[in-house]
Amino acid sequence: MSARENDTYDVVGIGFGPSNLSLAISLEEHHANVLTDPITAAFFERQPSFGWHRNMLLPSATMQISFLKDLVTFRNPVSRFGFVPFLHAQGRLAQFVNRKEFFPTRQEFHQYLEWAAAGMSNVVSYNSAVTAIRGPREHAHTSADSLRLEIRDTAGGGSRWVGARNVVISTGLEPRMPDGVVRDERVWHSSEFLDKFGRADHGELKSVAVVGAGQSAAEITKFFYEKLPHAQVHAILPSYGYSVADDTPFANQVFDADAVDDYYFGDEPVRDTFWRYHRNTNYGVVDDADIRHLYQIAYDEDLTGVKRLHFRNLTKVQSVVRDGRGARVLLKSPHHTAEPPLLDVDAIVFATGYDTMDPTRLLGDLDRYCLRDESGRHRVTRDYRLVTTPELTCGIYLQGGTEHTHGLTSSLLSNIAVRSGEIADSIVQRRAERDLVPAAAGVLSSLEAVEKPI
Ligand code: FDA
Ligand code: NAP
Repeated sequence: MSARENDTYDVVGIGFGPSNLSLAISLEEHHANVLTDPITAAFFERQPSFGWHRNMLLPSATMQISFLKDLVTFRNPVSRFGFVPFLHAQGRLAQFVNRKEFFPTRQEFHQYLEWAAAGMSNVVSYNSAVTAIRGPREHAHTSADSLRLEIRDTAGGGSRWVGARNVVISTGLEPRMPDGVVRDERVWHSSEFLDKFGRADHGELKSVAVVGAGQSAAEITKFFYEKLPHAQVHAILPSYGYSVADDTPFANQVFDADAVDDYYFGDEPVRDTFWRYHRNTNYGVVDDADIRHLYQIAYDEDLTGVKRLHFRNLTKVQSVVRDGRGARVLLKSPHHTAEPPLLDVDAIVFATGYDTMDPTRLLGDLDRYCLRDESGRHRVTRDYRLVTTPELTCGIYLQGGTEHTHGLTSSLLSNIAVRSGEIADSIVQRRAERDLVPAAAGVLSSLEAVEKPI
């Protein structure tokens, strides 16, 4: 797609990961069915092509949600962009069903997402990073109800501006490193794992460490053990051992679309309760099968007496100092052990998780129009729109970064089909109201403008 300089769209999406891809489909299906005057949309993605956490596409790693929680099915089960139509198009539907498994591999789900993104190529520009958003009075071409966005060509081609009556920010999670630890060619975050591993001389990696006790840490530990048969592998766990991800049916209800209402309209103690009891559905936890696999390796090593997988439990990393071609890691632990608190490794991977999406930097000066709650967090309406002062009438929607208002699914795939449908409804309805088209406005459900009283 080539979005033109100074064009103004009804919707501009920042980022084209699964969330905004799902929104693009939702908008297309919306105007195909409802409107004669389609919503115009353009999405900008900084990567050169579609890619979903490519650096963690480890062989045989599986999805953590059912294939039915794809981009569309929970909103529109007959969409042509579902996982089942994808399997059908690949000629693999029967084989997939024969597996009797809800969980595809991440590699297969990535192929599905690429297939869907290819079907929406008319609305996305790749190699296009959004670097700034300007509001009313901050840019010559801006009126009260539109914003201007600066798009930088990441392939080196310069910058341009486009206009938007609504912006949907969906830039994803931010890798988190411990304070003071700097990434380089031997000190990695899990989000860059396959890229850095691919560029390393594997023969030189004789001792490696993985920090963390979440899904990323367990998968990378397993991968190192299999791919580097000559290496010592150190797993540095803050806990006593890996804990299992609760994906049992009652707990799984926290990812249902209905749970968003319970969370959004609940008071602070209700929200705290969600996190207190159900954080272990997703954060700092590992699939049962992966835990058992790693334990079996450790057990087999005890049997043979050949040990190269080492667990340091109740341990965190205090600091890392680069030492020649490797790194010297200073550990901290309440244990009184004979083990020195120092570990010399040829590479260390921080699988230490992610910070939630924060739109503040991208909003720049525009942030002063966005209202915050008493804890300093953005106020967000039920339809995922930032609450703004009256001077700013255009919509700024968030896909991600709404854990404090909408709950546990904010950064996950579980609810994206429904959420993107709600955002599309809201955009269409707001436009209908603005254009005073009563017929269209009456047909559409009213999610707009609902904000929990504070
Ligand atoms: P996502 O991060 O996927 O996409 C954001 C996009 O925005 C990126 O493509 C980025 O390049 C782009 N971007 C950022 N800034 C930009 C800018 N300024 N201009 C233009 N483009 C910009 N969840 C789940 O429910 N089930 C699962 O199985 C998994 N598995 C999983 C594996 C791994 C390794 C991780 C790290 C995370 C998961 N997740 C998950 C959670 C994960 O957040 C989720 O799968 C999606 O990536 C969320 O999609 P988004 O589109 O919101 O973000
Ligand atoms: P995570 O679940 O947030 O886990 C981070 C881990 O790092 C936690 O154990 C945390 O311990 C630990 N940690 C943080 N700081 C530390 C420090 N300074 N020293 C030692 N340990 C530290 O992150 P993740 O494993 O990357 O998972 C993130 C998301 O991606 C989750 O939604 C997960 O499900 C998803 N994911 C999915 C797949 C898949 O689909 N196959 C693969 C990987 C990841 P504390 O809890 O004590 O802070």
